Amino acid sequence: MSGSAWGDGTRSVRAGERPASPGAPLRPSPVFAAPFHLGDLPPRAGGADGYARTEQPTLRDFEAAVGELDGGRCLSFATGMAALTAAVLACAGSGDRVVLPSDGYYTTRLLAAEELERFGIEVSYVATPEIEEYAAGGGLDDARLVLLETPSNPLLDVCDIAAVTRAARAAGALVAVDNTTATPLGQRPLALGAHMTVGSDTKALTGHSDLLLGHVSVTDDELFRRVKGFRDRTGSTPGPFEAWLGHRSMSTLDLRLARQAANAAAVSELLARSPAVTGLRWPWREGDPSFALASAQMLRPNGVVSAELADEAAVSRLLSATRLWIAATSFGGVHSTVDRRAQWGGDAVAPGFVRFSCGIEDTADLLEDLSAALDALG
Ligand SMILES: Cc1ncc(COP(=O)(O)O)c(C=O)c1O
Repeated sequence: MSGSAWGDGTRSVRAGERPASPGAPLRPSPVFAAPFHLGDLPPRAGGADGYARTEQPTLRDFEAAVGELDGGRCLSFATGMAALTAAVLACAGSGDRVVLPSDGYYTTRLLAAEELERFGIEVSYVATPEIEEYAAGGGLDDARLVLLETPSNPLLDVCDIAAVTRAARAAGALVAVDNTTATPLGQRPLALGAHMTVGSDTKALTGHSDLLLGHVSVTDDELFRRVKGFRDRTGSTPGPFEAWLGHRSMSTLDLRLARQAANAAAVSELLARSPAVTGLRWPWREGDPSFALASAQMLRPNGVVSAELADEAAVSRLLSATRLWIAATSFGGVHSTVDRRAQWGGDAVAPGFVRFSCGIEDTADLLEDLSAALDALG
């Protein structure tokens, strides 16, 4: 069921749904099956399901919903990394060159260094703020695929998807966009010309810090076939319980994003006023280096903010002084969290650099708690 004029709240709940039928639940319950009864004779009756690694009804419902938000056909994966792996390896092989963000999610760079290069794929790394110029200057001429991550995690830089895509298409390269931070409500890379939009649905899309999921959405049928074939053969299909929980969770995406963004707006003002904080980044705050492009390209803000405290000890003091902000990695969940990125290695950030993920608690409570914790830094 789709309504192109519907708002984000309606789309979060109703995207991909089949018309309700009397006596049936509003949303189908999960179907727990690995094999399905095949019937007595081939061909299978009416294209019925055969085996859940490749087809199953609960996954189809979830994919229909996410695909509708993305404006494409969605394939769901067991994790965001499985989705990224499929996006790259379904398209690139030995002797191909792929261009990845040098400032994006660290495990994507590990995927390249530890796995892709082992399979003979050449990898070039370009920073998000530099990719548009790189592409315009012919940098993608012999590339098979460029992956963008915008806003980038954790520095929250933004690049112009449409501009990079124009240059990539002219060079014959594919464009995939890691849309995790933005979410499908916050940005539609496929409408901006990208070939694939990829997400870690572990983050805000499902948003309760209790699921691992990822997805790739595409508009091209041949690309869909390739990515689905890769997933089905390598076996990174999520199970029905994850798919059902993911679908259930995304119904509240609009509400959660709205509160997270309101909290992020208030938190970034508080951080901006604190003498203990430097290097504040929130793409929707006027004056942020990403502000102009984010406002033009993105559809709505979210709750991820980054900033720098003096050092590791300052982050520890902040964490022991707060009651509401939890030390945890990942982002986009209902809880407000703080992640000192340097503890994981891999990101080019200072020891006191933190990513704040604003949850859906009351703004006043978060501000009061964070303000007291910042005061404790002296
Ligand atoms: C931008 C981005 N892409 C991909 C991933 C990987 O997702 P997952 O942990 O679901 O595999 C993450 C995880 O933090 C991420 O932040």
